[in-house]
Amino acid sequence: MNGKRILLIIGGGIAAYKACELVRLIRKQGGDVTCVLTEGGAHFVTAMTLAALSENPVHTTLWDLKNEVEMGHIQLSRQADLVVVCPATADLMARMAGGIANDLATTLLLATDKPVLAIPAMNVRMWQHPATVRNVATLRGDGVAVMQPDEGAMACGEFGPGRLPEPVVIAAEIARMLGTATGPLSGKHVLITAGPTHEPIDPVRYIANRSSGKQGFAIAAAAAQAGAKVTLVAGPVNLDTPQGVTRINVETARQMAAAVDAALPADVAIMVAAVADWRSAGEAVQKIKKDGSGQVPPLQLVENPDILATLCKSDRRPQLVVGFAAETNDVLDHARAKLARKGADWIVANDVATHAMGGEINGLHIVSAAGVESLPELPKAAAAAALIERIANALA
Ligand code: C5P
Repeated sequence: MNGKRILLIIGGGIAAYKACELVRLIRKQGGDVTCVLTEGGAHFVTAMTLAALSENPVHTTLWDLKNEVEMGHIQLSRQADLVVVCPATADLMARMAGGIANDLATTLLLATDKPVLAIPAMNVRMWQHPATVRNVATLRGDGVAVMQPDEGAMACGEFGPGRLPEPVVIAAEIARMLGTATGPLSGKHVLITAGPTHEPIDPVRYIANRSSGKQGFAIAAAAAQAGAKVTLVAGPVNLDTPQGVTRINVETARQMAAAVDAALPADVAIMVAAVADWRSAGEAVQKIKKDGSGQVPPLQLVENPDILATLCKSDRRPQLVVGFAAETNDVLDHARAKLARKGADWIVANDVATHAMGGEINGLHIVSAAGVESLPELPKAAAAAALIERIANALA
């Protein structure tokens, strides 16, 4: 992190203990950390711990006269290259969103003219409460980068989104925001498609499939964490955009094809989307009516453009093109055939009979001219990280 200065504000939640590990990681990566401990944060970690790890004085109160003679709160917020709030509790974010400055942390946040990264951590119900949803939207609108919390078992015994992301992931995001990311894919542009496409039949009906977009979004997140510039062309799915990813929303296969073309050049393309193979030959302008005669309207289908095959033939073909194949039977045979037919470098196959689309686990097989590598069954984020690691190795 090249000696960049990070002002780390630690809120009052159990995840505060992970902030200690974050301080250690930032120091290890060459960053300078100054900690501000809120009154709540001090119930979970001590100023002594943070001072020892950061090797800098820890600030806890606005009413420190020695500092305030020199307008210490203004200086602290201005000297930093990046202000990080970790954990960002529901209360701290509510005060930030409201522009309240009733302690040192919130006063610094109001006084700063530097980029701010907030890493929320809280109980799932607090995260999903309309007030928190509103506050997060306000903060994002104000230009604060708010990281998406992880999903999983929580200290309070519940399960869901609200967990603090792992400190290594937070440190990677800090490096990315500071422009000092040195991940294995830094300097590379990775283009990803994800989700289903919707092909309209008339203004109210469409053809779709069961793709959830989760695997493609997880791959986009992993690529961003590896330092890549990531463009994610997403079909209609209700998923949060991963941190550091540029997302382009589309509905139809033809829109997806145009968005992929517009995003070129890229070093790597990973086509994860379950693109509809066919669309209705003629989209009715008005809703097709049931007339009571028992007659079924004819539904004529035409083939959609094959985005992956077109990309492979293009004169702007990325260095590495990876396709996906969701199959219900003869998975590897179909994947090998697809490799040849599409002209991709790799086809990543998954058995959707074993792991239904939309689930949390995937068993991926990477099929290339060199053979097949079968990854173990993994949660989609871990499968994504494994695939990105192999992609980075292939480019190295
Ligand atoms: O032909 P099939 O749909 O089985 O191939 C799957 C792979 O091809 C995936 O990588 C998918 O994103 C891509 N594809 C595409 N455009 C299509 C159909 C599939 O890019 N029209």
